[in-house]
Amino acid sequence: MSERRVCVNDFEEEARTVLPKAIYDYYRSGADQQQTLADNTAAFNRWRFLPRVLRDVSTVDLSTCLLGQPLSMPVCVGATAMQRMAHPDGETATARACQAAGTGMMLSSWATSTIEEVMSAMTSSQGNARILWLQLYIYKDRELTLSLVHRAEEAGYKAIFVTVDTPYLGRRWDDVRNRFKLPSHLSMSNFSTASLAFSESNYGNDSGLAVYVAKAIDPTLSWKDIAWLKKHTHLPVIVKGILTGEDAAQAVNHGVDGILVSNHGARQLDGVPATLDVLEEVVCAVQGRCEVYLDGGVRRGADILKALALGAKAVFIGRPVLWGLACQGEQGVSEVLELLRAELRLAMALAGCRSISEVNRSMVRKIEFTSRI
Ligand SMILES: Cc1cc2nc3c(=O)[nH]c(=O)nc-3n(C[C@H](O)[C@H](O)[C@H](O)COP(=O)(O)O)c2cc1C
Repeated sequence: MSERRVCVNDFEEEARTVLPKAIYDYYRSGADQQQTLADNTAAFNRWRFLPRVLRDVSTVDLSTCLLGQPLSMPVCVGATAMQRMAHPDGETATARACQAAGTGMMLSSWATSTIEEVMSAMTSSQGNARILWLQLYIYKDRELTLSLVHRAEEAGYKAIFVTVDTPYLGRRWDDVRNRFKLPSHLSMSNFSTASLAFSESNYGNDSGLAVYVAKAIDPTLSWKDIAWLKKHTHLPVIVKGILTGEDAAQAVNHGVDGILVSNHGARQLDGVPATLDVLEEVVCAVQGRCEVYLDGGVRRGADILKALALGAKAVFIGRPVLWGLACQGEQGVSEVLELLRAELRLAMALAGCRSISEVNRSMVRKIEFTSRI
């Protein structure tokens, strides 16, 4: 690990200096005033640990399962679009780093590498399993949507994470100012039709991506489309972008296999709560009927432990991976994952937990409560 990078924020700082401004802005931004962006990270600071002592923490086992798939730790890589803007190897570098770490990667529909090429970037011969999940946007063109799903099935992906918080793209001011679009040598590789591949086309004065979404993504999406998707795939379906107990209960009633509590990294509706603040409500509504995961603002091992204590089965990280990629490609992503693993292990040991099954709700307390006593 580089001596200069001791925490995830150091990776961001270095990435800021190496990335072109419009690309750094696209990766970093949240929607509108970015209230939720700030809150996603701040929420973790509102919780305190109540550690247990004298428990022989000489070995700490971080291993867990996600949908029956063994993972070396409860930290996975979430979907972030267009990773080749961060490094020429893009998604293939991320996939290799995930496999080396013994964890899984969610590939964005808007990847700059194909579904098949990312799977083959992982080695099949030896070592850790190849764990890839496809993040799915439902397009107005349903045939096209299903073709992505079927390609993922054929290639050996293990689940579909359908994003439900993006009927339109949130308004990210920097992207509007920068008239954000893909650099000319890149395109969204999973689409053969030029108009659906998003590129350097002229999208007018707006964020190019916002114009693209308005043209291509289906804003009529409703719960019946979750049933439609489930009917057309044998893979587990997880809904990505749930923030209320009511919607979580609906999702369970529609037979989903998992729920990812997410506000899209604060890039959609500004003013929604931090994901950590609604996690417990979702976990209570689900009552163990499917797995619940969280993403948004996870930057430290202690953050991961707090999310697990509040009921998440695993967490996903978005931007930290982009910072790792920008700093040093595959090696940079590996460093981010290993840093979080080491931080989580230490936090667990200091809190008196020897395995993930020992992490529980009694380990954390919200700060307002602490300050009242
Ligand atoms: C640059 C960027 C691109 C993203 N692209 C996608 C995407 O293509 N599909 C999707 O469902 N979510 C996308 N997300 C949201 C992430 O999957 C995830 O919810 C979020 O990044 C988690 O928050 P974090 O970045 O604070 O870890 C993106 C987020 C970022 C920052």
